[in-house]
Amino acid sequence: MIFDTHTHYDDEAFDCDRDELLQKMHQDGIGCIVNIGAGVSSTKETVALSEAYDFIYATVGVHPSEVADLTDADIDWLRELAKREKVLAIGEIGLDYHYDEPEKEVQIKWFKRQLELAREVNLPVCIHSRDAAQDTLEIMKAAHSEEIGGVIHCFSYSWDMAKIYLDMGFYLGIGGVVTFKNSRKLKEVVEKAPMEQIVLETDAPYLSPEPYRGKRNTSLNLKYVVEQIAELKGMTSDEVIQITWDNARKLYRMDSLV
Ligand code: NI
Repeated sequence: MIFDTHTHYDDEAFDCDRDELLQKMHQDGIGCIVNIGAGVSSTKETVALSEAYDFIYATVGVHPSEVADLTDADIDWLRELAKREKVLAIGEIGLDYHYDEPEKEVQIKWFKRQLELAREVNLPVCIHSRDAAQDTLEIMKAAHSEEIGGVIHCFSYSWDMAKIYLDMGFYLGIGGVVTFKNSRKLKEVVEKAPMEQIVLETDAPYLSPEPYRGKRNTSLNLKYVVEQIAELKGMTSDEVIQITWDNARKLYRMDSLV
């Protein structure tokens, strides 16, 4: 069964058929899904989804693009939610300099604060980093993130940067982008990274793989990502599915769940 480590099924793109779609995941080979909190309301909806479906788990956190109005009270609220059994990580948190807002200082402040929160509650982190390679790395090093652990979601940097995170014990989240024709850099990362540190993710509804690039993404499309990774690694699709399943359970420390 396939493990999708990063989804946004609370997104309005699924309002028309969410239940129908999620009901058929099992029969189509999707065994486990982690829905990702990306803001205050999406975190609420994420936790609700994890309570409604036994195979859906949750993370709680605020995406760098959503931190402008964040308060200390919100962090206290996240800390309380983090105690729930099906909450597996703090995220997605990080830095996104692709757009000018919120300003860098604000993003950095709340990234640090949420890394600290992960340490306090003893959960791994799900990192979002876009056009912010150097600052992300500096902050994570300063926070001794190798002791926190987690995943670099939708990894988009060079092999040199990948190597640093792999050495810190982080997993790399690989999704639809690896199937794109112009993704030579990411293909190189996948070729060189140890298979034991790769996990599958969709980022649904975003980042559909070929041949559905540009369309709404769902976990059902992960088979195309699996095929691409299998080709790059010289493995069978079944091996990729099995190994990434085991990796995802380790990343999210699921063996400690009852
Ligand atoms: Ni995401």
